[in-house]
Amino acid sequence: MTDTLLPPSVTVVPGGDAGADTTGLGEIARGAGRVRVDDKSMINARADVNQLLPMKYRWAWDKYLAGCNNHWMPTEVSMQADIALWKSPNGLTADERRMIKRNLGFFATSESLVANNIVLAVYRHLTNPECRQYLLRQAFEEAVHTHTFQYICESLGLNEGELFNMYREVPSITDKAAWALKHTQNIEDPQFHTGTSETDQAFLRDLVAFYVVFEGMWFYTGFAQILSLGRRNKMVGIAEQYQYILRDESTHLNFGIDCINQIKIENPHLWTPQLQAEIRQMLVDACALEVAYSRDTMQAGMLGLNADLCEQYMHFITNRRCVQIGLPPVFAEGENPFPWMSEMMDLKKEKNFFETRVTEYQSGGGLKW
Ligand SMILES: [Fe+2]
Ligand SMILES: [Fe+2]
Repeated sequence: MTDTLLPPSVTVVPGGDAGADTTGLGEIARGAGRVRVDDKSMINARADVNQLLPMKYRWAWDKYLAGCNNHWMPTEVSMQADIALWKSPNGLTADERRMIKRNLGFFATSESLVANNIVLAVYRHLTNPECRQYLLRQAFEEAVHTHTFQYICESLGLNEGELFNMYREVPSITDKAAWALKHTQNIEDPQFHTGTSETDQAFLRDLVAFYVVFEGMWFYTGFAQILSLGRRNKMVGIAEQYQYILRDESTHLNFGIDCINQIKIENPHLWTPQLQAEIRQMLVDACALEVAYSRDTMQAGMLGLNADLCEQYMHFITNRRCVQIGLPPVFAEGENPFPWMSEMMDLKKEKNFFETRVTEYQSGGGLKW
């Protein structure tokens, strides 16, 4: 197989399709030429995936740095007030307790599903070292998020099995996880390789399912529920942890959107009208699953929230996600019923909460001898 257009850094694999080792674990191409920035690409790269520099995607590196600057651990947050409120017989209504448990149950295993998708499926096919650097950071953050639910479970004395097995017991949670898993099951198959339009589109669908839907839509009802409690001075420790998680997840979502849009730029032939229609339908279906989940977790209104408002909020979020990946909105334009959520996401407005934390970490980052 010869290809006169191949850059000097390419190893031609006899009988191979792509001609380059996209895992980074193949035979070393002894004496191969140095990587040129133009050879780097998001998927199906011909450039060596082990060489971070020269850097092509500054946006990925910037998100890696942002993640490092925002480091936090759940155990730094005091749970004393939450424990007192949870144990007090009249501290919370039965509806609030049900909502909190189902919320925690959804997140407790969702963090693992997202982490497994990154590590076991996405990482192998995203053939760019600066994006992989971010994925490694994100994977650690998902571990911190899973740790948060272990810490909450232990602090409040919750039933471990009830919380962590909820995604197999509560249909509104199972339905969401099963929907997303269809997409990752496809691309984590060892026989699956990108490099054809069909498989590259399957990879894009997985990025949409996990970054846009799971992290970008399905976490947001949960954030609104817990932050609503926090705004009413209830479960303030969990609410603080959710603010940290929300900050991390905003970066995860933005990374996923940048990846999808960059893959589209580099491979315009993949973004067919058919795929666009399919992805819009994915978002509509995902929205319906989320609305069902919010009705299940909040059978009565509470804390200024109810299932109808959550549905309106999810329509607003779904439309926004469509626009972010270059698709027309799927629902009629509507107002955001929770404008305070935007404030929660605008970190600059959370001066006391975030600025002290970030400064502490940044200044504490250097070792003193
Ligand atoms: Fe997470
Ligand atoms: Fe995440």
